[in-house]
Amino acid sequence: SYIKLDSSKLDKFVHENELSEMQALVNAADDELRNGTGAGNEYRDWLDLPTNYDQDEFARIQAAADKIRKDSKYLITIGIGGSYLGGQMAIEVLHSNFFTRNSDETQVIFAGNSLSSSYLSELLDLVGNDDFSINVISKSGTTTEPAIAFRVFKEKLVQKYGEKEANGRIYVTTDAKRGALKREADVNGWESFVILDGVGGRYSVLSPVGLLPIAVSGGNIDDLMHGARDAQNDLTETDVTKNDAYKYAALRNILYRKGYTTEILENYEPNLRMFSEWWKQLAGESEGKDQKGIYPSSANFTTDLHSLGQYIQEGLRNLFETVIKLDTPNEDVIVPSADKDLDGLGYLEGKSMDWVNTKAYEGVVLAHTDGGVPVMTVHMPDQKEYSLGYMIYFFEIAIAISGYLNGINPFNQPGVEAYKTNMFGLLGKPGFEEIGDELNKRL
Ligand code: PA5
Repeated sequence: SYIKLDSSKLDKFVHENELSEMQALVNAADDELRNGTGAGNEYRDWLDLPTNYDQDEFARIQAAADKIRKDSKYLITIGIGGSYLGGQMAIEVLHSNFFTRNSDETQVIFAGNSLSSSYLSELLDLVGNDDFSINVISKSGTTTEPAIAFRVFKEKLVQKYGEKEANGRIYVTTDAKRGALKREADVNGWESFVILDGVGGRYSVLSPVGLLPIAVSGGNIDDLMHGARDAQNDLTETDVTKNDAYKYAALRNILYRKGYTTEILENYEPNLRMFSEWWKQLAGESEGKDQKGIYPSSANFTTDLHSLGQYIQEGLRNLFETVIKLDTPNEDVIVPSADKDLDGLGYLEGKSMDWVNTKAYEGVVLAHTDGGVPVMTVHMPDQKEYSLGYMIYFFEIAIAISGYLNGINPFNQPGVEAYKTNMFGLLGKPGFEEIGDELNKRL
């Protein structure tokens, strides 16, 4: 496939026969996913998103993005969890590290993904009197964090533009029929985009959830979908030796069973940082249930080699690493020559910085392998839309298969409700009074 998994450094940890022994389980997981015989089968519509999407809606997304790019300095994109991670991830991957400092382009700024009052207040100050629009994203339409941020920014929008023009600057991405947000959108005539019932938040980046903010940032969503479409077509082989997404799922399951229960997703590029955040939600929310599952974590190299690197090299041996290695950076820099070699860097003169980065990566892989940490690498050819679309689909498929391999439903998230119930009790939300009373006694 276009995205390649390099598992050649796992020899010390996984024997070849172990992978072939997994084949029967992978076949069963594939059946659960593709034929819908597994738990959560009503949440598989993301499988088809790259090929079977609403073309009219896609055109509306492009048109809305063009309008926002013309009439707004900021798009305030409001959502939490699966309703923002994919969009923010894609925007960071596709753009320069300093993209947000370029004032000519419309800036997509995310809000409603925490309950920080400072963040929201500072963002209100940043927007100031400049032109802005809002994209509020919530499948349920009732999530507290985005609902508060939306109320706050909606008030600012109406104050600035008046009700009528404000209504033309609000873009809603939510369920087709249900939820408070849908009701509000219908009453006010806001432009709406649909999150399909069968697409869970963490599998929604290739739906309007991700596509509108990505398009507003100037990302090419046609190319993104093209990459995902090719992945959809390429990654159907069940043979683990021929399908790298399935092979990755099988290998991480083998490692997990041996006690390597924490996976660290690593990169060597600062603008892949959010890719790890997106992946952590995809993996953690899909797999961590029934008191089991790999704990997904991340590290940013070479930065974190000067902090977490010590632990990875010599700490508790329950870690394995998956590196996202970017094969071609957007830009390269040549180490300059200097008259006197006072800094001792003469041996690197004329070398490209990306070459140095690659040597660091190679050195780390061998050092960590020697230290008892299994390392795999996923090669990402470049940071363009096509590659990103392919990567997204690669990991979505891999994590869904991983979930079934571990005997859980990869598409539900019952555990995220517990904190909400407590929070509603403590906030005095109608219907949660009794819980609130009990909790208050414990505080
Ligand atoms: O992946 C998920 O399902 C969650 O992270 C949700 O995306 C998150 O809780 C936000 O939910 P909603 O889109 O309903 O506001």
